[in-house]
Amino acid sequence: MQNHRWLRTPAGTAPRISFGADYNPDQWPREVWDEDVRLMKAAGVDVVSVAIFSWAKLQPGPDTWDFDWLDELIDLLHANGIGVDLATATASPPPWLTTAHPEVLPVTADGTVLSQGGRQHWRPTSPVFREHALAIVTKLAERYGSHPGVVAWHVNNELGCHNAYDYSDDAARAFRVWLEERYGSIAGLNHAWGTAFWSQAYSAFDEILPPRVAAAFPNPTQQLDFLRFSSDALIDHLVAEREILNRISPDIPVTTNFMVVGETSHADFAKMAGEIDFVSNDHYVVEGRDELAFSAAITSGFARHRPWYLMEHSTSAVNWQPINRPKRPGELIRDSLTHVAHGADAVCYFQWRQSVAGAEKFHSAMVPHGGEDTRVFRDVVKLGGILQDLGDVVGSDRARADVAIVFDWESWRASELDSHPTEKLRYRREAFDWWTALTNAGIRVDVVPADTPLDGYRLAIAPVLYSAPTALRESLERYVEGGGHLVTTYFSGIVDENDHIWLGGYPGAFRDLLGVRVEEFRPLWEGEQVALSNGTTGTLWSEPVDVTAPDVEVLVRYEGEEELDAAVTRRPVGSGSAAYVSTRLGVEGIGALLPTLLDGAGVASELPEAIRGSVELVVREGANGRFEFLINRTDDEVDLGEGDYLCGSAILPARGVAVRRA
Ligand code: GAL
Repeated sequence: MQNHRWLRTPAGTAPRISFGADYNPDQWPREVWDEDVRLMKAAGVDVVSVAIFSWAKLQPGPDTWDFDWLDELIDLLHANGIGVDLATATASPPPWLTTAHPEVLPVTADGTVLSQGGRQHWRPTSPVFREHALAIVTKLAERYGSHPGVVAWHVNNELGCHNAYDYSDDAARAFRVWLEERYGSIAGLNHAWGTAFWSQAYSAFDEILPPRVAAAFPNPTQQLDFLRFSSDALIDHLVAEREILNRISPDIPVTTNFMVVGETSHADFAKMAGEIDFVSNDHYVVEGRDELAFSAAITSGFARHRPWYLMEHSTSAVNWQPINRPKRPGELIRDSLTHVAHGADAVCYFQWRQSVAGAEKFHSAMVPHGGEDTRVFRDVVKLGGILQDLGDVVGSDRARADVAIVFDWESWRASELDSHPTEKLRYRREAFDWWTALTNAGIRVDVVPADTPLDGYRLAIAPVLYSAPTALRESLERYVEGGGHLVTTYFSGIVDENDHIWLGGYPGAFRDLLGVRVEEFRPLWEGEQVALSNGTTGTLWSEPVDVTAPDVEVLVRYEGEEELDAAVTRRPVGSGSAAYVSTRLGVEGIGALLPTLLDGAGVASELPEAIRGSVELVVREGANGRFEFLINRTDDEVDLGEGDYLCGSAILPARGVAVRRA
């Protein structure tokens, strides 16, 4: 994403926030297409993703191809001013391929071969799959690479959504090559994996397997490397497709849709972002409004705060949760505009027309089963109008905040491996609690990958920064020495890049910076709470913290616990500081601590006190000015005061969003 290339737009087109959906007309009779185009125009749709699951239709047999329908479709859309984000169609291989080549099917850790009949049943490392996938990519690029209606290439779909972890023999072979490149020698690998433990020493790379189901905990570094390798295998597939697209149609930007949502952690999206022209994300509401905003902010961090493409979200209910409720009035528009606030310059859904058959027929769409005379379609049309009014926002960046949460994919995955002090720790949950508490306090926050330079942020929060390679430790030290205010928590600074413990006491790599030392962790039982001196409580984790530097201030203490004393500490370092939180405070406990941390870092809310917490503020800034997005987090009306509103007005209704010039 070094150069950030956005959708190709025909010359003379006014900038606009693009609006559309996944469009699957190959699942419908031809006469429906004209009706679709009529409704798309009514809704202001200007872009659709096409052919995502069309491989079997485009290539009905090994040597037969059928592009006529796609020719006609792209021409029809183009003639009506609707751009095509053209998928490479490789997400779901057709049955003829898996019948002829069952060796492309993925294998689970216990040896189960996953069958055709669903979707994404392919091994990322299969040479046979790769060959067939690249053949169809080549055909599509040759045929449509200079079509003026194609505005972007959409590689595959949600890489790794169902097939991220494949334990097949193909995976084993590719894993060995990956390891050899990483470690250079078997001795290097044996050291990194700590194979002196449990008689695991390898004498050759050929002996190595993916961490298949074993008699006891598989080697943790082997597990971690397998997670890294599996993500790299997906990126390798992305790059293979992209290289063909770039070679044959260099003018069309390439993207692929990430899945920054909830607990999904299979791919290193920060790294993947480096391989595409603009970031795209798919998000579904899994834990409510704040999680949506948090995920959108993480996505913006991957996009380095440049505009990104919301490739999929839902107009209303999904179909894949245990119980699927529709959105409440206002939520369709609020959810979409929250993504725009966090940098989305395209707002698209899964999918355009709700399916009549198949596994997703109960998933909402822009045109529901009930047709155009429905609340959902009326809201879609309304949103299309609002997006047109936001033309000045297009191309602007998400403006930098004073506070950053460091969200480290590596620490996420490594801190949750098995055989740890507690299996209840959830990395993302801790980070999300800080996000929520800061939003409650009316503070804008960026969420950034661990390699982001932190200078310029007054306050950086790095919760559960378990994995602390030397370079990261040094960059955090420099940040604090340069006047930055760092907060980190329990289970931080624990290991290096090989998952080897930093010896001498916890929190290992950050012990000296923080001026504290911990000899033993003391995780809490489920339901157990520890009382804290500021009236809040800790859960999940606690530690007997020894203060080792004379200048360390104890901000909060454990109460009534024989073995515990300091709970939250802060050490001044020059004009900066380094604070340590040794228990899980939760949103409420963080909220109680925040005024001290914010004051210390010189951070203040930009919102009037009366609306702090009720409203989330996000700012975008670009050539046309600075724009404040004010999102109502409550079910009550909020008075924002007068202003120059592009959307909404001073009185923000329940679940409403207003946008005004700053
Ligand atoms: C995504 C996928 C779409 C559709 C959607 C339903 O994971 O890319 O094709 O299945 O979920 O929510």
